[in-house]
Amino acid sequence: MELNIKKLKDQALKEIDGIKNSEEWENIKNKYFSRKSGELAKLLKDIKDVADDLRPKVGTMVNEAKEEIENALEDKMSKIKKGSGDKLERDFIDVTLNIEKYKLGHLHPVTQITNELEDIFKSMGFMILDGPELESDYYNFESLNIPTWHPARDTQDTFYIEAKDKLLMRTHTSPVQVRAMQKYGAPLRCVVPGRVFRNEATDASHDHTFYQLEGLMIDKDISITNLIAVMKELLSGIFKREVKVRLRPGYFPFVEPGFELDIQCLICGGKGCPVCKQSGWLELLPCGLVHPNVLKAGGIDPKKYSGFAFGLGLTRLVMMKYKIDDIRLLQGGDLRFLNQF
Ligand code: DAH
Repeated sequence: MELNIKKLKDQALKEIDGIKNSEEWENIKNKYFSRKSGELAKLLKDIKDVADDLRPKVGTMVNEAKEEIENALEDKMSKIKKGSGDKLERDFIDVTLNIEKYKLGHLHPVTQITNELEDIFKSMGFMILDGPELESDYYNFESLNIPTWHPARDTQDTFYIEAKDKLLMRTHTSPVQVRAMQKYGAPLRCVVPGRVFRNEATDASHDHTFYQLEGLMIDKDISITNLIAVMKELLSGIFKREVKVRLRPGYFPFVEPGFELDIQCLICGGKGCPVCKQSGWLELLPCGLVHPNVLKAGGIDPKKYSGFAFGLGLTRLVMMKYKIDDIRLLQGGDLRFLNQF
């Protein structure tokens, strides 16, 4: 028996030494360690025939041989892994390995605020719409009651594209008002977040590309009261507290009457501070009741329906919310800035 153990061990070690790849390794391992038919299992079965007084010694010998063979197999495997091109080696994954975590990105602050606003408006039954950034002169100006001769065009210079029909990068999200009316008719509730463009000399508060959120509600008997109610809902949703608002007259060709909506300064609570230039109020968004000519352009009868519209400066809102003092940071792609949100 003792001789058998030694013979088996020597044979195993020799075979292990000759292993060249993981397939052979697997075969040899099975040959010796298979539970039912493995050589070691057979040897262990024979122990019962050994005389009682010798059994402990033989048992120890078998265990030692087993351990030696196991160690040799393990050594061989690490050599195979270190060696070249082996499939097992290539597919080997050490699940305990502590690897560097993936660095996940996150949403841009403008996108975060857009998503929040969309949720607020969806809860009030507004659709979220989209429109083309490359727009026709008609939708961007004409349909909004801004004919070619109108001085309001001077305040919204943009990038023109040479084409048969005059095309331009839209200066505001307002053209989607008319597109939405034409597509859906009245009654209508929608908001349109999107990118707009201006031919601006850039500085801390002007950029050639920025974001707006247009709002439009059309129904029977819509008045300024509805406008104020929706604005207050929007502002308390964004600033997470009751916000005081006031309306001042403002001129925009596509609304009549038109307003500038101010909010009470969130920094000083209306007492006056450098942020609100001591006035206690911050200018937030222009709005008004949709001009009858615009309703007509959208195919809606101004005698039956009325509506309000507003143009929220999304980029400005983000700047106010996070106290960002240079608009260029938002489109600059500087990770030192973006990672703060
Ligand atoms: N489109 C205007 C702009 O970019 C903003 C605006 C003013 C939008 C009044 C409106 C509105 O819907 O009613 O300057």
